[in-house]
Amino acid sequence: MAPYNVRWGIMATGWIADVFVRDLLNDPTLRDASDVSHTVTAVASSSSKERANKFIADTGIPGTCTAYGTYEELVANPDVEVVYVATPHSHHYQNVMLALGAGKHVLCEKAFTVNAAQTKILCETAQRKNLFLMEAVWTRYFPLSVQIRELIKKGAIGEVLRVMADNSFGDDVEDKWGTKHRMVNKDLAGGCLLDLGIYSLTWVFQTLYHTLPREQRKPPSAVSAHMSLYHLTGADEATTMLLSFPTSTPSNNPHPGRSTAVAMTNLRVSTDPDEKGSSRPTIRIQGTKGEIQVEGPAFRPERYRIIPKKGEGEIRDVECPFPGNGKGMYWEADEVARCLRDGKLESDTLPLEESIVIMEVMDEVRRQGGLTYPENIESTAYPLQL
Ligand SMILES: NC(=O)c1ccc[n+]([C@@H]2O[C@H](COP(=O)([O-])OP(=O)(O)OC[C@H]3O[C@@H](n4cnc5c(N)ncnc54)[C@H](OP(=O)(O)O)[C@@H]3O)[C@@H](O)[C@H]2O)c1
Repeated sequence: MAPYNVRWGIMATGWIADVFVRDLLNDPTLRDASDVSHTVTAVASSSSKERANKFIADTGIPGTCTAYGTYEELVANPDVEVVYVATPHSHHYQNVMLALGAGKHVLCEKAFTVNAAQTKILCETAQRKNLFLMEAVWTRYFPLSVQIRELIKKGAIGEVLRVMADNSFGDDVEDKWGTKHRMVNKDLAGGCLLDLGIYSLTWVFQTLYHTLPREQRKPPSAVSAHMSLYHLTGADEATTMLLSFPTSTPSNNPHPGRSTAVAMTNLRVSTDPDEKGSSRPTIRIQGTKGEIQVEGPAFRPERYRIIPKKGEGEIRDVECPFPGNGKGMYWEADEVARCLRDGKLESDTLPLEESIVIMEVMDEVRRQGGLTYPENIESTAYPLQL
């Protein structure tokens, strides 16, 4: 049978859009995906049509691909089936509403929106219009993540009671990000929580929350957070979160103890200072029968280690390579293709409900940390000129 082909429209031509499109152009058979394929039908840049044309040339998109100088033209193209939104997260709410309003399915970069209220409206709108919507948390779709979730579900490390996850960059913040870059610019929803902390939370949620059957998943019973705000812009440059879940996984047991997690992100100290993986591990998932340690950046780990409790087996190291010359964003794109093929409106691997719960946690963390954004980007009004 011919693979199911998805026709993508790319909204924005920045850094991650480039990585995503190059991944889409990878041969799916290199990653054993013979059931789906991808076509980039159109690209839009809000700056100019020329910029979209340059993006098409630079990434080497083959065949006919239309360039647009506005996002409105992109979503009006009847050949575009799904829109990939790769703008700063300050703009996601407006941009996704635009695409949904034009009847397009959407894959939207993380963080989904600035706050949970915006995410909820996007989810309701997509469901009401019978359109597929997914937050592009690519890490969830890596074979490494799939394997670790399965190990937890089958009790390989017993009852999981604690997770520690870090996603931190050791930058000279003033020098590298200044005040205007979206990483620290509050007008673009800057700060490490929404940009990097989302991955630490992803690890907490995909291990402690997602490994329970859907009807047993419960939001954290407690969230505490400390934030340090960047002196030049007020965006967070360091955030540490403590979370408790009412039950442990995989047995949904309120005893012997709730599961707890520490999720961290920081712009000034690094998870991996020499960038060679010397400071392993990045994530520790601790159960009553042992531990899983994940190595490599939290957003793109490459291997993990299972350490059974003393006397309960041997240490096992598992390598999880990235086939082809892609970064690994193709796995989330394949998920979108399969969902569209199967008529699904959301992905089981990151259901909309889970994205909302994570956004609610980030709202609470920001509340405790005293981080607010300008009214226009926190707003749920649509359309709004940002
Ligand atoms: N999944 C991942 O691993 C990953 C990695 C990095 C970033 N991200 C997410 O992807 C999104 C984009 O990040 P990025 O690093 O690609 O950012 P970027 O390089 O700054 O690109 C963002 C693009 O958005 C468009 N845009 C529209 N309105 C804008 C405005 N007011 N200011 C700036 N840009 C505007 C611009 O493209 P046009 O001029 O062509 O419209 C710009 O090039 C963010 O939400 C980020 O969190 C995800």
